[in-house]
Amino acid sequence: MDEKLETFYELYERRKSIREFLDKEIEKDKLERLIEALRRAQSAANRQPWHFIIIEKQDVKKLYEVFTKEGFKTAPLIIAACAEPQSAWLRKADGKNYAWVDVTIAITEMIGAATAEGLGTCWIAAIEPAKVREILGIPVNIEVVALIAVGYPKSPLVKEEKNRKPLEGIIHYGKW
Ligand SMILES: Cc1cc2nc3c(=O)[nH]c(=O)nc-3n(C[C@H](O)[C@H](O)[C@H](O)COP(=O)(O)O)c2cc1C
Repeated sequence: MDEKLETFYELYERRKSIREFLDKEIEKDKLERLIEALRRAQSAANRQPWHFIIIEKQDVKKLYEVFTKEGFKTAPLIIAACAEPQSAWLRKADGKNYAWVDVTIAITEMIGAATAEGLGTCWIAAIEPAKVREILGIPVNIEVVALIAVGYPKSPLVKEEKNRKPLEGIIHYGKW
């Protein structure tokens, strides 16, 4: 791992969405660490209501028809992140199901790990879940949350200015 990426803050300053990847495979040990990051993620009541489908190399072709951007075809790895609502924690007060929250946390932790490995990622929500379900043989009780493209970025991961809302618009001290 790059020692310069030691701290959490440096890591997240570098993270950005990558939509074009180098023609370079991801090493097996790196992939294993990404998978371990998914597995170790926190979840409500530790229910772990998730499944992740690892789609490598040539198999990524199967998903070309669901990609909305050409660059995603260059990804050497796609992780299909899925929720299993039946096994998720429900908030008693309003019945909210936390499956998507938990899956999102696991993805985010994996994205942090990928960034530490010098890999770029892009969260792809704009898909047709029904098509993804059909292509990957996902059971009816499982929901497709996102596809995550992973690979070595075409342009380097460096700190950049972000187009973000000003603090005043989003942070409320004490009360709304
Ligand atoms: C939940 C979620 C869904 C997203 N879906 C897509 C997508 O379908 N296609 C895409 O190109 N980028 C997608 N993105 C990437 C966002 O556009 C990106 O995170 C945002 O513009 C901020 O840029 P940054 O990630 O480089 O900081 C998604 C990001 C998130 C968190």
